[in-house]
Amino acid sequence: MKISVIGLGYLGATHAVAMAKLGHTVIGIEPVPAKIESLKSGHAGFFEPGLDEELAIQLASGRLTFQSSHDESSRDVQLHFICVGTPQLNGSLAADTSYLHSAIKDLAPYLAEDAVVAGKSTVPVGTAAVLSAELKTLTGHSTVNLVWNPEFLREGTALEDSLHPDRLVVGASNQHSQDVLREVYAPMIAEGIPFIVTDLATAELVKSAANAFLATKISFINAMAEIAEVSGADASALAHAIGYDERIGNKFLRNGVGFGGGCLPKDIRALMARAEELGVGQSVAYLKEIDKINIRRRDRVITLLSQELGSLSGKKVLVLGAAFKPDSDDVRDSPALEIAFLINAAGAEAIVHDPIALSGVNKKHPELTTETDLHKAFIGVDAVVLATEWTDYRNLDPATVSGVSNKLIIDGRNVLDVSRWQNAGFKVLALGKTITN
Ligand SMILES: NC(=O)c1ccc[n+]([C@@H]2O[C@H](COP(=O)([O-])OP(=O)(O)OC[C@H]3O[C@@H](n4cnc5c(N)ncnc54)[C@H](O)[C@@H]3O)[C@@H](O)[C@H]2O)c1
Repeated sequence: MKISVIGLGYLGATHAVAMAKLGHTVIGIEPVPAKIESLKSGHAGFFEPGLDEELAIQLASGRLTFQSSHDESSRDVQLHFICVGTPQLNGSLAADTSYLHSAIKDLAPYLAEDAVVAGKSTVPVGTAAVLSAELKTLTGHSTVNLVWNPEFLREGTALEDSLHPDRLVVGASNQHSQDVLREVYAPMIAEGIPFIVTDLATAELVKSAANAFLATKISFINAMAEIAEVSGADASALAHAIGYDERIGNKFLRNGVGFGGGCLPKDIRALMARAEELGVGQSVAYLKEIDKINIRRRDRVITLLSQELGSLSGKKVLVLGAAFKPDSDDVRDSPALEIAFLINAAGAEAIVHDPIALSGVNKKHPELTTETDLHKAFIGVDAVVLATEWTDYRNLDPATVSGVSNKLIIDGRNVLDVSRWQNAGFKVLALGKTITN
């Protein structure tokens, strides 16, 4: 099938490569010139395991091309995927849907009457209906085939998730649209991946609901961690024990410095804002607390540092990790960077290390001190905070670490081999445990 993928960030670039791998002819459309140049030269423009390798293969196949805007080649595209960003609006909890409106406006002059437009971005429920009406006006077509097909990929395993998702969800208002989506995903459907058809609103809400549930699960265990910290209990052991109940499950149930990234924080806020607009704000008012619990976990790190070091003024603290999760260079709403900012705000200096994400940090937050060499990063610091659970940090032999002026490490992700670090002379403090000095 001839398709276009509009917006080539973390979601769109991965989706374009995945669709080409399925055998489709894909035109990727992205207005930022540097992104187009990078993609044409075989680099996605961000770190995602295996993506650049597959991008190079698909470029060489000739099925995948990139351009900065629509042209005549869009006129016979059968399916357009919209993958533009929906970030949090400045000064509001709501999502900024302006990129969707401009993507629709740019597409309209080239949209064939029977072509299907599939939104993949995460949107407030009701957005698709508005976009559909807009497309009708802009094109003058009597029917527009707009579907919502939310994406569930996880950064770090994005390509694999795009090619083998748990489920495909398609909100469609007519049979033709549904058939085109079935056709594009035929190899996945043949593999047994469930293809769930809903109305537009349900499909939009599926994604917001899934992210609200995941955020709730993390904040739930972090709330238990707050109780564990003052009661002598251990939140990691608690999570392990309750996770055996199949109704609870042990995934996404690890206490630590909380969730971040370009999706969960802004998606729960957008859901609260949309529910409020719809007059049912109370239904998800609890998400405010989910957000607060998440933010409090970063404060807990500062409390522990202050308890151990006294005043933080003039101290140096190494923050291990900048990306919001391992195997990604995404620093949007990263708990690790939030901790670095809090350390600096307390009068200390954060030194940030990350195996992959530092160029993004230097670009977006030039005020932060960064160090690329892991062993050098330890030299002269008063304490260390593990904030992102990269394998490099889990595997780091503490016996090879030298030059730390004060051997204190706070395990913000509960992943370190505590006795190994203790044997190397470190005091190890973890979140979700009572600290006894
Ligand atoms: N990143 C993820 O893991 C993930 C997972 C599932 C869903 N999502 C959702 O997917 C959407 C995109 O997220 P992302 O992380 O890829 O964002 P991103 O910011 O990395 O990418 C968005 C891209 O769209 C481009 N763009 C903006 N306006 C455009 C226009 N008019 N035409 C063409 N391109 C345009 C931007 O330049 C950018 O490259 C969001 O709604 C997000 O919530 C993201």
